[in-house]
Amino acid sequence: MIIKNICCIGAGYVGGPTMSVLAQKNPHIKVTVVDINQERIAAWNDTDLSNLPIYEPGLKEVVQEARGRNLFFSTEVKKAIDEAEMIFISVNTPTKTYGKGKGMAADLKYIELCARQIAKVAKSDKIVVEKSTLPVRTAQAIKDILDYTGNGVTFQILSNPEFLAEGTAVQDLLNPDRVLIGGEESEEGKEAMEALVAIYESWIPRERILTTNVWSSELSKLVANAFLAQRVSSINAISELCEVTGANVGEVSRAIGMDSRIGPKFLKASVGFGGSCFQKDILNLVYIAKSYGLNEVADYWEQVIIMNDYQKRRFADKIVSTLYNTVSGKKITFLGWAFKKDTNDTRESAAIYVADALLNEQAEITVYDPKVSESRIYEDLDYLGTRSPEENRRLLKVVNDPYQACKDAHAIAILTEWDEFITYDWGKIYEAVIKPAFVFDGRKILDAEMMETIGFDYTSIGVSK
Ligand code: NAD
Ligand code: UGA
Repeated sequence: MIIKNICCIGAGYVGGPTMSVLAQKNPHIKVTVVDINQERIAAWNDTDLSNLPIYEPGLKEVVQEARGRNLFFSTEVKKAIDEAEMIFISVNTPTKTYGKGKGMAADLKYIELCARQIAKVAKSDKIVVEKSTLPVRTAQAIKDILDYTGNGVTFQILSNPEFLAEGTAVQDLLNPDRVLIGGEESEEGKEAMEALVAIYESWIPRERILTTNVWSSELSKLVANAFLAQRVSSINAISELCEVTGANVGEVSRAIGMDSRIGPKFLKASVGFGGSCFQKDILNLVYIAKSYGLNEVADYWEQVIIMNDYQKRRFADKIVSTLYNTVSGKKITFLGWAFKKDTNDTRESAAIYVADALLNEQAEITVYDPKVSESRIYEDLDYLGTRSPEENRRLLKVVNDPYQACKDAHAIAILTEWDEFITYDWGKIYEAVIKPAFVFDGRKILDAEMMETIGFDYTSIGVSK
């Protein structure tokens, strides 16, 4: 089957970059990315490419090459579904905030809406590709909806989870470790899988394109994220042990990571992992395990989240205890708000929870982040509902100059590992802060010796003082 028209429902962090690269590499295929969020689509269509809704290194160039040629962003969802032979579903699948499975299960209402819309509009056979991260066996639910409410057309459902990481999305898409495609084992299923393989083969070697059954593919995505997050929680657990024993977590990471069976990646101790997916996907895995009565399996994975929450709390507690057990009325400067460097995404960022804990102690926080807007920061805090929006605005200020942010601070906390923080004139910052000059490095990015020579009282995750 030759695919000439692709539609992608959802123009977010996954749909936007993924389809941009897919279109760039397949100029013969018309790719239309649709979304119900008009503002987002307008931003994707903005002639000024610095206004794209998502900041990712290298993304502008890809969009510039493909947009208007064979890549289109639109709010005309029905039209795009109708025209396409292959439809990617790339909508959000957040943790449920209500009803059964609240706080654990994935909320599949957006997925179901997409399936119903496809069923309503489709007049010809379609391949429907799950690009969103979904609980194992969701393909069955999508198929049921399509089969029972469709217009007599046939649908093949494929699972094609996305493994890109934010901040390196374009590189990850151009050069993925693997592409995973799950499909039915029937002839039709194999044909659909081959159609998708052919699209990826435009730029990815065939041996890196893995085909499996649908359930393995759906589950592998949750498992990949669970394993990655587990490594971060494992090293974060060890970071506390390092702090009390005189070991240095950086040295421990290096020592264990050189064992090729362990490997060096995802062993960087931090203030805690954030991002829209690790927590959501592990909670989802835990919920699935529980729903099958696998309580030990569920408890095992839940511990990864418990450890992460503890690490965020521990960082805030450390600031309070070091500042003589009170931060009330003290200015604490946050360098960084994004959940990692090179992204403007703040979803589940550790900074939000550390700020909330410090605001509970009546600290006055000033935030500087090179890519995150003031409105985003306030939305993140307001969403917690811990205090009124007015109170959040009174206690927390956002500035766009790091030196101004640090002026007269009682303490500086590094929450995101932005490269520019390393290059600051720390001598100049030292002169401007209140003494003792406390720095809490939640990302282990600064040179301890340099900071101490300047005069800072420098505390880093996983290093005893
Ligand atoms: P997002 O919130 O950035 O984007 C989702 C978009 O879908 C939104 O713009 C929303 O308006 C749109 N949408 C929702 N329902 C719609 C509908 N019925 N019709 C049209 N548009 C609709 O989410 P995201 O970060 O792109 O994540 C999408 C999925 O990909 C999730 O399942 C996530 O777990 C997974 N994922 C995310 C990442 C990541 O780095 N963010 C990586 C891999 C996988
Ligand atoms: C992660 C996965 O890496 C992707 O493969 C996956 O596609 C994606 O989730 C998803 O499903 O959404 P992402 O969350 O964008 O990608 O970023 P990561 O690089 O994985 O970082 C996640 C969090 O862990 C960040 O807060 C980061 O600072 C933290 N982290 C990461 C550490 O604290 N230490 C490490 O060693 C690595």
